[in-house]
Amino acid sequence: MRMSSLPVTALSAILFFAVQPFSSQAQDVALTPPMGWNSWNYFAEKVDDPGVRAAADQIVASGMKDAGYIYVNIDDTWEGQRDSNGVLHTNAKFPDMKALADYVHSKGLKIGIYSSPGPKTCAGYEGSLGHEEQDAQLYAAWGIDYLKYDLCSFIPEVMEKQAPNDPPAQMRLMHAAYTKMWKALKATGRPIVFSLCQYGWDAVWEWAPSVGGNLWRTTGDIQPNMYSIYANMSLQAGLASYASPGHWNDPDMLEVGNGELTPAENRAHFSMWAMLAAPLLAGNDLTHMKPEIRDILTNRDVIAIDQDKLGKQGSRAYVDGEVEVWTRNLSGGALAVAVLNTGDTRYSTHPFHLYLSRFGLHGPQKARDLWTGKEMELSEGMALELSSHDVLLLRIAVPK
Ligand code: GAL
Repeated sequence: MRMSSLPVTALSAILFFAVQPFSSQAQDVALTPPMGWNSWNYFAEKVDDPGVRAAADQIVASGMKDAGYIYVNIDDTWEGQRDSNGVLHTNAKFPDMKALADYVHSKGLKIGIYSSPGPKTCAGYEGSLGHEEQDAQLYAAWGIDYLKYDLCSFIPEVMEKQAPNDPPAQMRLMHAAYTKMWKALKATGRPIVFSLCQYGWDAVWEWAPSVGGNLWRTTGDIQPNMYSIYANMSLQAGLASYASPGHWNDPDMLEVGNGELTPAENRAHFSMWAMLAAPLLAGNDLTHMKPEIRDILTNRDVIAIDQDKLGKQGSRAYVDGEVEVWTRNLSGGALAVAVLNTGDTRYSTHPFHLYLSRFGLHGPQKARDLWTGKEMELSEGMALELSSHDVLLLRIAVPK
């Protein structure tokens, strides 16, 4: 039958199915920033099957699942060797990946995995170069729901070898490598969140959606200290227009509960990631999580900012010395405001004055403090006391 003789409805159905599998993946997953847990920030190379099961158990037991944390993501160091057919096997730490995925799914959670477009991962394990389709099929057969694809050895082994001293050509090779894995994932027919990890090279936010990225790291690796957290946060200023449902800037996984972060720093880190519509991937040891850390990670009001369905990332509204004010437009016309004391030695003895007019509000405003739950009235120039590295996170339901 010639296409022109098909009834319109049949023609649209054919077009729908022809076009849909190719174009829909980015829209169907990660409509809000992915929430879950990732093994790297705390466990690094010590991640193993029992540890991942324990994390899944704790996500449920701690209330994190009910608060929206769904992905249990295995980072680097699960990979073993390829057999003579090129099929990748897990190493001894992960005896049966399919059984592990089934276990995570049985908890109502989803499971993520990690690879590199290069021959090796960052930790020197087997990468996907030359085996993209085979690996994507393997992930789908295991029931994987999320892939973090980390550039690593692709830089020296492919970009620098194939295009020495030619950065634009190197970047084209990088784009092609991400496109290749995207196509391989799509060909599996399984919805798999595609997370690009190439540290923000070549203004990744401008092209990541065109290679299937649902989220993309915009920075180098985060560390559990306020300088690193602040550096990664600052690099998001100016990127708000690149975020939208299905497509997120990723300032890296959470360090809440790690290192020596103070309660104020943990709150500030979590608040700012919510303002940035950042993925909320907890990176701490959930089995030994203190109640105060669980309370931060499960604050529903803060999570609601992050997960707001409009998907509009916040922006830095103004800076006054060591105090920064960020705002984020929310659905229903609401506004989130974060006031962050970035100073190391600026104590609550020295108040900061909040100028609502600098982000377009006029006259007194009713707001809710999302960490105390208290209602407040904001006024132009009001004094705010914030201790070093602390944050005031507000929701203004009806901004005037
Ligand atoms: C880095 C990446 C980290 C982690 C690590 C694993 O390149 O940024 O988040 O995945 O590799 O080796």
